[in-house]
Amino acid sequence: MTDQTDYLNSYCMHSHTCGQLTDADKGMAVTLTGWVGHRRDHGGLIFVDLRDRGGVTQCVFDPDACDAESFALGEKMRPEWVILVEGAVRLRPEGTANPSMPTGAVEVLVSSARVLNSSKTPPFAIADGIETEELTRLRWRYLDIRRPEVLKALRLRSTVTAALHTALNARGFMEVETPVLGRSTPEGARDFLVPARTSPGAFYALPQSPQLFKQLLMVGGVERYYQVARCFRDEDLRADRQPEFTQLDIEMSFVSEDDILSLMEDVLREALAPVGLEVPERLERMSYHEAMERFGNDRPDTRFGLELKDISALVAGCGFKVFAAAVEGGGVVKAINAKGAGSLSRGEIDKIAAVATDHGAAGMAWIAFTESGDAKSPIIKFLGDELLERVKAALDVEPGDLVVFGADCFETVSAALSAVRLYLADLLEAPRDGHGLLWVVDFPLLKYDAEERRYTANHHPFTRPKDEDLDKLESDPLAVGSYSYDLVMDGFEIGGGTLRIHNEQLQLRVLAQLGFVEEEAREQFGFLLEALSFGAPPHGGIALGLDRLIMLLGGFSSIRDVIAFPKTSSGADPMTKAPETVASRQLKELGLRTL
Ligand code: AMO
Ligand code: AMP
Repeated sequence: MTDQTDYLNSYCMHSHTCGQLTDADKGMAVTLTGWVGHRRDHGGLIFVDLRDRGGVTQCVFDPDACDAESFALGEKMRPEWVILVEGAVRLRPEGTANPSMPTGAVEVLVSSARVLNSSKTPPFAIADGIETEELTRLRWRYLDIRRPEVLKALRLRSTVTAALHTALNARGFMEVETPVLGRSTPEGARDFLVPARTSPGAFYALPQSPQLFKQLLMVGGVERYYQVARCFRDEDLRADRQPEFTQLDIEMSFVSEDDILSLMEDVLREALAPVGLEVPERLERMSYHEAMERFGNDRPDTRFGLELKDISALVAGCGFKVFAAAVEGGGVVKAINAKGAGSLSRGEIDKIAAVATDHGAAGMAWIAFTESGDAKSPIIKFLGDELLERVKAALDVEPGDLVVFGADCFETVSAALSAVRLYLADLLEAPRDGHGLLWVVDFPLLKYDAEERRYTANHHPFTRPKDEDLDKLESDPLAVGSYSYDLVMDGFEIGGGTLRIHNEQLQLRVLAQLGFVEEEAREQFGFLLEALSFGAPPHGGIALGLDRLIMLLGGFSSIRDVIAFPKTSSGADPMTKAPETVASRQLKELGLRTL
């Protein structure tokens, strides 16, 4: 990357940023611009902390050093006024240096000052670490952005995105833009629709991802595509979900799954090293089944233990009804040994159980072991001493441990115990240092949606089934594997991709499993099917969730912190007040009426 420092003070009014001056600049004549921060009037001397995106510099208004008019301005200026000062850099007097700030050794003795704009009193302090409610900060987001920690997040995002561009360009990738106004296809989430004025009653859909267009680019011979693409999904929002978010979207032709994973490892290693993330040569590749078995979900935080252990075989037919019935009914019994948690109070254990039931469990059995090794639990009387000893051996139980159990179908136990695992990690302050980055691979092609009584795609309908499972596609659909992979970091899914189907007939077979008879498939996906029939190369790709990646790199707890103008959890923008009703004239023009 170009060294920006040479340019930072070109094409602008200032000679230096407010974060730049050090004792090496002693005596230099400088011009600074920025916002008035803290201002102190020391009877005759006025100190102003001047702030811009580079940092803060202390400016001193001394009536002996500056003209009377400028000094009068110094007396008058208030926080967040925008000013320009000219002056000379000098060392702060003995004992007044502030080593905690980069410019803390110096100050600027002002010779003249100008007010570029005044400001109303801001609704919250423009400072790091404020406790102002997020809604208030978003209402005045432009003021929030002035705070150093918010500017730093935006800077990190820009740096990482630029480095990813560089790494991909160096490897022959071509950035191609794809349409934002597209057609609605049943791909997963709910679409955002845009009424088409020129075709009354018809709608565009905003893209949930550029998935189909990037595949068409492969048919077009682009071979290596990428795009920093805005995606839109009308879903319930969470800390790691926004209705519009950004993907680093990638597609390649003539590749194997291993080629794509290796490329991503290299690109991430190169792009993220400058921001302090060491990505190893080769990331761990864990199968979906292993992730589900050991962690209960497909995006495991592998930085701490508290793994799930299957004890179904051990407790099959035992005297505790709940366990025996679960195994008998084809379900599982799994346990987590929370090391050293045996002294938790009954109330604390009940809270853990509440996490399990909140996530679908019927209950949570537990055994607490005292430091002297005695077991306390409502279920021991049903287990019996001999089985208790075998359970202890299977789970490596030592005095002082707490073991919690889930018994139900595999999905329910997984959902409940994976939530309990994260809760326990917080409660027990399990060390979560550094970052846990790994691939989860080999997802089943399909899953069964019990509510809708049909198969749905685990990734999307364009994912290629494993060659060796093709003969099971109709006879045993759930046993079919796929060429698919998610990139997981610290328990978040930060990326996902697959090899694609590049054969029209196979695409029709998979769509049939998803409930599209050929006519419907051609109606919905005709353009894709047609393209596949014109010499589509084998291809595959991946999309990184850029917002989530930056959130984790910056140590933030929500992707809202790394998006300049995010939406609230109800999908609104408290600043512009979007979404908003529109004039009836606009609706009429579109042929729309609201109910
Ligand atoms: P997928 O749906 O897994 O794959 O999305 C890729 C990545 O995008 C991020 N992500 C989100 N981030 C913020 N808010 C959201 N609402 C949101 N939804 C998803 C996640 C996720 O891993 N077309 C495929 C990719 C492919 O197959 O190449 C796709 O979109 O980090
Ligand atoms: P009960 O005999 O119903 O009073 O349950 C005894 C213990 O088993 C209680 O601690 C329950 O929370 C627990 N329990 C009930 N159902 C389950 C389940 N599906 N999985 C694990 N523990 C359960």
